[in-house]
Amino acid sequence: MTDFISLPFYDLFQEDGHVPVIREKLPPLLAGVRRSILEIGAGTGLITTSLAEWTPAEIFALEPSAGMRAMLLSRLSGHPELLERVTVLPCDALSLDLDEPVEAMVMINVMYALEPGYRAKLWPVLASHLEPGGLLVFTWRPGGAPVPRPMRELTSRRVGRHTYRVSSEILSSADESFEARYVYQVVQGGKVIEEEEIAGHAHRPVWETIKGELEGAGFVQADAPEGLLAWRLP
Ligand SMILES: C[S@@+](CC[C@H](N)C(=O)[O-])C[C@H]1O[C@@H](n2cnc3c(N)ncnc32)[C@H](O)[C@@H]1O
Repeated sequence: MTDFISLPFYDLFQEDGHVPVIREKLPPLLAGVRRSILEIGAGTGLITTSLAEWTPAEIFALEPSAGMRAMLLSRLSGHPELLERVTVLPCDALSLDLDEPVEAMVMINVMYALEPGYRAKLWPVLASHLEPGGLLVFTWRPGGAPVPRPMRELTSRRVGRHTYRVSSEILSSADESFEARYVYQVVQGGKVIEEEEIAGHAHRPVWETIKGELEGAGFVQADAPEGLLAWRLP
């Protein structure tokens, strides 16, 4: 499993990245949810606190990475009322163990990190922990794996006297999987003072694959805005 994440950089770039789009598109899908939500790959909690704002539901925030969980718990401790309502599950999605089925599941920007064999096993596990009629929402982008391209800067942000810079390249690509390399740099006066490099494989299943896997696990597609897929158990 590669998640290409450099912990110090994560919130700095995601607050400006996918998070505002998700905060716009996700609330209408969760409009009727009252009792419980499982968030798979909760990360640092950027979406978790929003889920708690949009719904009165109890939240189970599943996150396997200890570093991401530390940031999630730090965020939650700044909202004491959420400590009553959010349970942090320190495991990966396939190891999910809940006392009772949940009403909804949300998985934002996690799919790329799931290997195809793991992902195929995951849907039946999720179905077994979802109430009848329950909702599963996740991010998905069409088009399959991106083609190889050279290193280029993706984005940068200033933090005091430093610039935090993220670059990436796509090294190879086959079917739904590709190999990428990310370089995270902290720059001071034109000089790189810290650098972290992360390389590994990521996955972007095409529509026919996702449809086959979800329907095979008993899900029925529901309406969702572009960039998200919604599925319900009958
Ligand atoms: C890009 S982050 C997204 C975090 C959060 N959902 C957000 O939108 O900010 C991907 C997260 O998925 C988690 N993850 C990776 N593999 C996972 C797995 N097998 N089960 C659950 N979470 C996983 C990573 O640890 C990471 O926190």
